[in-house]
Amino acid sequence: MLNEKKVLFSGMQATGNLTLGNYLGALKNWVNLCEEYECFYSVVDLHSITVRQDPTVLRQRARKLLTIYIAAGLDPEKNCLYYQSHVSGHAELAWILNCFTYMGELNRMTQFKDKAAKHADNINAGLFTYPTLMAADILLYQADVVPVGIDQMQHLELTRDVAQRFNAVYGDVFTIPEVYIGKVGAKIMSLQEPLKKMSKSDENPNASIYLMDDPDTIMRKCKRAVTDSEGQILYREEQPGIRNLIDIYSACTGKKPEEVVKEFDGKGYGDFKVAVGEAVVSALRPLQERYEELSKDKAYIDGIIKANAEKANYVATKTLRKVQRKVGFPDRVR
Ligand code: TYM
Repeated sequence: MLNEKKVLFSGMQATGNLTLGNYLGALKNWVNLCEEYECFYSVVDLHSITVRQDPTVLRQRARKLLTIYIAAGLDPEKNCLYYQSHVSGHAELAWILNCFTYMGELNRMTQFKDKAAKHADNINAGLFTYPTLMAADILLYQADVVPVGIDQMQHLELTRDVAQRFNAVYGDVFTIPEVYIGKVGAKIMSLQEPLKKMSKSDENPNASIYLMDDPDTIMRKCKRAVTDSEGQILYREEQPGIRNLIDIYSACTGKKPEEVVKEFDGKGYGDFKVAVGEAVVSALRPLQERYEELSKDKAYIDGIIKANAEKANYVATKTLRKVQRKVGFPDRVR
């Protein structure tokens, strides 16, 4: 079924509302990669339940995310867009990989530490072994490349280590994946605390721009973005708020940060924030419009869910059977 193209895997959680960070750091970069790679993009709902979820809301959000994938420009004929929970191989391989991952490695994961601090009443084993499930996602498809934002780097390094460890014992079973980080937008920061990553779970609604925010809301959030008293639009660490706005503008318009600095030389922060807001509104408008249309077409989305789950299952099962044989599980009797 697969052709000669290299394989690419990535995924997103359907938890909370998607932010501009998710879009600029990941989704936007995914579009068009299918010309070069055989692409798999999962809605990773198994990962979502490491934090308590309302079942009805989770189901709605998962469908919304899958629809957003298409609305953002991922052609479901050329990209495999599917729910992780529809392919049981993810959980099965994750179990096997758990037996090849050390507690010490998982203990070092900064995302685990952050999430454990946030959900102190529910530090479950799934939250701890989250990175091995992520490794399973990637290795199941023999992915060569994994495009993500910077916050996922540590998990990707662990995936490579676990894959290499497994290969060292059983031969070349897994492809060792490379991480692909976009040039701009790989770490979009909070609009209110620019030293913190823009996050779906931020309690301050002004900190994040959500993909479905209307133009007025986007403009208001940009105008309220925290900056500094330097008064100059420069791309440097000492001005994290302005630097973040330059990153956002640059990712939305395709201009390089140096060009943005030139364009706004001598202009005030007020003007710049308006320009950033307008750039975000224009970048999100096509996605929002397409989403509105697509979400009405239940039969079309259902068809994609079914066909793509079958394709993902086919590919995943091939790797899973190979791994099961390697570790010594008995062959199936037909
Ligand atoms: P998630 O759902 O938190 O984020 C999805 C993608 O968005 C990127 N991202 C950002 N990029 C730039 N700036 C930000 N502020 C920002 N916030 C999020 C993330 O880096 C990610 O690429 N564990 C993963 C999902 C996952 C996955 C995988 C990814 C599960 N299995 C296998 C790749 C491969 C997660 O929670 O991403």
